[in-house]
Amino acid sequence: MTAYIEASQAPLKNTGAIKLYNDADFEGMRKASQLTARCLDELSHLIKPGTTTQAIDDFVNEFGRANNAVPATLNYRGFTKSCCTSINHVVCHGIPNEKPLREGEIVNVDVTYVIDGWHGDSSRMYAVGEIKRAAERLIEVTYKSLMLGIEAVKPGNTTGDIGEAIQTYAEAQRCSVVREFCGHGVGQLFHDAPNILHYGNAGEGIELRPGMVFTIEPMINLGRPSVKVLNDGWTAVTRDRSLTAQFEHSIGVTESGCEIFTQSPAGYTIPPYE
Ligand code: MF3
Ligand code: CO
Ligand code: CO
Repeated sequence: MTAYIEASQAPLKNTGAIKLYNDADFEGMRKASQLTARCLDELSHLIKPGTTTQAIDDFVNEFGRANNAVPATLNYRGFTKSCCTSINHVVCHGIPNEKPLREGEIVNVDVTYVIDGWHGDSSRMYAVGEIKRAAERLIEVTYKSLMLGIEAVKPGNTTGDIGEAIQTYAEAQRCSVVREFCGHGVGQLFHDAPNILHYGNAGEGIELRPGMVFTIEPMINLGRPSVKVLNDGWTAVTRDRSLTAQFEHSIGVTESGCEIFTQSPAGYTIPPYE
């Protein structure tokens, strides 16, 4: 049996119970998430050949501070950067560094700002200069996977409906779904119950209810699904070194469907962002 609890009545920790948030809580999520989305919009101007991922991290840190927000990843479980930057075959949790981006690379930037205790978690893919058609297609498939997952979000549906929508589409496009990482409850905690798997079967998992708040963040590979984590303890890569992509939104379940808290104010969806 799944336990649901009014967030205002729940302890500020992950007890496994699923928190249901009220209108004021949704407003808190909107504010943090919109700053995250604005940051991701702004980054489209910075990301080009020669930009270092450290310069991206500096921007995320400074833009946050200028807007009274703190990056949630900074000192999170030993992670020392303000965002994750994951290039080409890096699936997620890439660590920003001083190496310049090169023409033809694809990079995911994952930002989570905290404002008034609320976490707005989102990521997008960026193209570094001109990219190959295969990379472009992977980015299209991954974005559409996320949006099909989001379309499955409404009261009465289940987390399995989200997973099936993503997996069915991605695999029909001859891509594969990463199993080792998933979406998650989000709100006053960075990572909370429930887990949102990006694969599975319709009708299985947890029933969606108005007030639930979570991320969907499919990682889709051109090759095999399996991943490994490098010796730095963070960087996850595809075992076959095939290209991988990810998009992430933070969303809230409403009476009729869902609200995408991290929607781009500029209307950006997939690159090129212009
Ligand atoms: N933002 C990531 C997510 O989508 C988590 C990054 S945790 C870090 O859940 F420590 F790697 F930064
Ligand atoms: Co997330
Ligand atoms: Co994220």
